[in-house]
Amino acid sequence: MKKNLFLIGIALSTFASATPLENYLQSLKKEVKAENPTFKDFNVERGKDIFFSKHIGKKGKEVSCVSCHTANLRDTGENLFTGKTIKPLSPAVNPKRLSDLKKMKKWLRRNFKDVYKREGTPLEKGDVLMFIKSQ
Ligand code: HEC
Repeated sequence: MKKNLFLIGIALSTFASATPLENYLQSLKKEVKAENPTFKDFNVERGKDIFFSKHIGKKGKEVSCVSCHTANLRDTGENLFTGKTIKPLSPAVNPKRLSDLKKMKKWLRRNFKDVYKREGTPLEKGDVLMFIKSQ
């Protein structure tokens, strides 16, 4: 009994300390698993492909995530369409990144549409978040 309470305590404390990113990844994972029960985990390499691959984007121009965020995520980017500077996407140099659920959702929705002309799937979003986090 004591041991059980102890384990529940650990479970609760890990739950409480989960970051918005961890919670978001967990919920994306549930969505992927609902479609594909054998799914194991998100993958940085697949995320890298999503980030670097070029597509004819919404304005008929060839774009990738790199077009605005640069190939080095620790660098300052520049919005391809407006010329505005974009702070580095890497959480290692910009700790505000991937810390706010609303911001992650909003910009992933918009940015996937900019590049892929559609929303990202839960699998794509999870993979690309893992890649950004690793940078
Ligand atoms: C047309 C330019 C542009 C392209 C292309 C683009 N982004 Fe962005 N992205 C932005 C801007 C602008 C912001 C919001 C401003 C900011 O947060 O500095 C942003 C913010 C984000 C954020 C929010 C991060 C946070 O927590 O603050 C993520 C995640 C992101 N982009 C991922 C991507 C991914 C993945 C792709 C490719 C599918 C992509 N972006 C392509 C311009 C772009």
